Formats: sequence, C-alpha cells, structure tokens
Amino acid sequence: MLIAFDGPSAAGKGTLARGIAQHLGYHFLDTGALYRMVGLQMIRTQTDLNDATKIAAFARDLNVDDFENHELRSEVVGSAASKVAVIPEVRSALLKFQRDFAKRLPGAVLDGRDIGTVICPEADVKFYITASVSTRAARRFKELCGVGVDTTLEAVTDDIIARDTRDERLNLPARSSKDVIVIDNSELGVEEALAEVLGFVKAKTAKP
Ligand code: CDP
Repeated sequence: MLIAFDGPSAAGKGTLARGIAQHLGYHFLDTGALYRMVGLQMIRTQTDLNDATKIAAFARDLNVDDFENHELRSEVVGSAASKVAVIPEVRSALLKFQRDFAKRLPGAVLDGRDIGTVICPEADVKFYITASVSTRAARRFKELCGVGVDTTLEAVTDDIIARDTRDERLNLPARSSKDVIVIDNSELGVEEALAEVLGFVKAKTAKP
C-alpha cells in the first residue's frame, strides 16, 4: 500500500502524511528532507549552486545521520533545498532512494512535490494538500517562533512566495494528476484534516 502526499510549502502535508502513517502503521518518508540534506551539504561546503556535478554527488551520497539534524528545518536550508531541487541530476539521483522506500511493507507514505506523478505514479491513493499563502505563512511563522527562530510574518510570507515561484519552475503538476484528491487545508484543524484524509484512504482501499 502506497500513499502519496504532494503540495506546496507549509500546507500541512507533512503533519497529515506523518499522522496517517502512524495511524496505519506504515513507513513515512519526508522527501523534502532529502533535498534539504543536499542543500545543507551545499551550504556547509560552500559549493557554488552552478556546480551541478558536485551537488548531484551530494545527492548520490546522502549522509543519513543528517536526517535528524535540526538545521534541516531552518528556512535557509529550505531555501537552499528549493534551489538544488531544480537541478535535474539531483532529482534523478534521489529517485532510486524514494522508489525503494515506497516498496516497504506493509505500506509507505511519502510526502513531497512529485510523488504521485514522477516518483510513484502507481500510488494507491494520491493527495494534493494545499492552503492559502496567508494560512501557510501564519503556520510556518508559528512553527519557527516555537523553535526560537527570530523572524517576522512578512519575512516568512516572502519566503513562501519565493519558494512557490521556484517550485513552479520545477513544473511538477501534481495537482492536475488525474486521480488526485485535492484538499484545501486552509480552514481545517489537524484532527479534522486527518479524519478527512483517512476517510478517503478507507474509501479508496475498501474491498468491493
Ligand atoms: O517543509 P516545506 O514544505 O517548506 O519544504 P520541504 O517539503 O522540506 O521541501 C523543501 C524544498 O525541496 C521544496 O521547496 C522543493 O523545492 C524541494 N522538494 C522537491 O523538489 N521535491 C520533493 N519531493 C520535495 C521537496
């Protein structure tokens, strides 16, 4: 069983994907963390963004210890992630890891931007989670304040808009995939959204 969650930055797909995986006892992969690990490596080594060969090598040789690194969640690393994500060699280097993970039993939940379209078009259930820019910015601002990051709502809003623009350039039209379930998460609380998602999963996977 394979469940795909795609959608823009800070729409809440990570919370939903993790929650569903926990509920169903499936494995969960935050694929954004893979791009963030490559971005972090680029920052640490002061590698030029134009050096695609070196950056793709970081993607092929991911340091799995970094998965738990708190630095990954910072906006600087998120922004670097969205820059390295446009390098085709980086995307193809990360493909195998994601596809292998998707085969884990008894099931896997992956969240990202191109899971239901490029990584796992055969996913059993595909969600596109979205929310308004103002909701996404307010949520991300609260999250960053909660971990002591000194920022402003304006700066977070600008970052989300810049990230959307870069993500659009990736041309990953997950939202228009024919079998995708689109959920606007602007007005829903976490429990409400989880119940809605779970309802769709049960309906899609119910035996006739
Ligand atoms: O948490 P947030 O949604 O802000 O970002 P993320 O999911 O951690 O992803 C960071 C960046 O990696 C995104 O802005 C995308 O540019 C890129 N990404 C991607 O290209 N493909 C994915 N499957 C996941 C992330």
